[in-house]
Amino acid sequence: MSDFIAFCDKDNGMCGFMIFSNLAVIVTKAEHVRKVTSSLIVLNLKVFHLFAHRREIPTAKKHMDNFLGPNSLVSLYDSRWTFHRKLMFKALQYSKYPLFVDVISTTTAKLVDGLRTNYQRKPIDMLPFFKMVTFDVIGKVAFGYDFESTKDITKGLNDVAKAFEFLLEEQSRRSYTINPFSMFYSLPTPSNFKHRAARSLVRSKIEEMIRLRRSGQVARNEADEDFLYRMMDAKDERGVGLNDEELTDEIMTIMFGGFDTTSLTLTYAAALLGLHPAKQERLFEELKQLPPRDLKHEDMPALTYCNCVVKEALRMFPPAPLTVRAADSDLDLDGIKIPAGTDIWIPIACIQRDPTSWADPDDFVPERFENERDIPKGSFIPFSLGDRNCIGQKFALLEATVALATFSRAFHITAVTADVKTAMAGVIQRPVPPFLVSLEARK
Ligand code: HEM
Repeated sequence: MSDFIAFCDKDNGMCGFMIFSNLAVIVTKAEHVRKVTSSLIVLNLKVFHLFAHRREIPTAKKHMDNFLGPNSLVSLYDSRWTFHRKLMFKALQYSKYPLFVDVISTTTAKLVDGLRTNYQRKPIDMLPFFKMVTFDVIGKVAFGYDFESTKDITKGLNDVAKAFEFLLEEQSRRSYTINPFSMFYSLPTPSNFKHRAARSLVRSKIEEMIRLRRSGQVARNEADEDFLYRMMDAKDERGVGLNDEELTDEIMTIMFGGFDTTSLTLTYAAALLGLHPAKQERLFEELKQLPPRDLKHEDMPALTYCNCVVKEALRMFPPAPLTVRAADSDLDLDGIKIPAGTDIWIPIACIQRDPTSWADPDDFVPERFENERDIPKGSFIPFSLGDRNCIGQKFALLEATVALATFSRAFHITAVTADVKTAMAGVIQRPVPPFLVSLEARK
């Protein structure tokens, strides 16, 4: 992934190539990334349809629809995308995050208890454990459902979480396979039966939550405030909101966006801390100042270095290392004409290690985020950029920071694996082989 820059022109940072009959261009310069991902502003109004979305690939859409449903933000375009995006943006606003900090810190505290009792001083891969946290957290904050994975971490994910993970893996497997039968979900094959059962199990939990709320069978109070309540409340300027099927698809989408990426971020952060004891001790110095109780929203300002560690992990190992846009109209990038219809590749992982933007890009230096104003816009883009960027990024940063703080103040982390190596799994990069650490409870 980091070799992309080597192919690009030294001056304009671009490189063109053909994929079958389609022209594709790699852009690596921050100002070009900004131009490609942002909407046109006409008379102070954003023109949402005049910016590059992703190209709609019918096969990929089919697998996504069978995973998340046909009304998912990730596969909507134009006015339907604008409508969903506005309502979801409202629902994911920052105002209720103080309550979410409690959910994140108490959930991670359960993981800490389980690790302390069962897994100390053993080489372990943290990814499955961090997945338990992110599943439990996203279930609670998205639709008030408790996956209970952290209740007993020796048991692993519950059946609903396992079903969701299976659907995610199936979507990725079927999208990248050349077996034409994988397109036909109604064929009577064992994998289609399993897919149908998994899909209906997960969706039935979300539908049940919507039904109970619509019928007033669950009393609402401020402490229950979650994304589903807020999405049910959200209306556009005509007073139109999301219907029940759209709500179900969007809760699936939030789970999809929220659990895998954040657990990977935590895994990379723990690996990097294990490999860099001095940075880990600096983090612990910060965490030692916190009161001896589960973290609360008021503790967030004291977690500045922890937040830098999360961002540096996202810089070095962005879970989504590449994104692609398709130019809706002709573009001019520094005098180079890019015709409408061109695929524009944005290699996030390589932009975030570009030596022209970052000193010692391969070194783990969380301190570089202490003064974020010095970081050129467009060179740190783990959540992508522009109008189609990650809608959950504030929540993701909050979750990763609180969970990492709770975990790192409980354990001293020693790296067992010598180096972080990654491989692509669908659109996500994972540590391959799994990165092993050993944990020792701090006194
Ligand atoms: C560290 C964690 C996360 C990372 C690295 C991440 C990364 C990204 C990236 C790179 C995109 C843009 C994809 C593209 O350009 O096509 C994206 C989109 C999206 N993300 Fe995240 N994400 C994270 C967490 C979350 C969370 C917690 C949620 C939900 C609460 C979420 C929901 C979404 C959604 C719904 C989209 C699609 C937006 C659209 O198409 O308009 N993500 N994410």
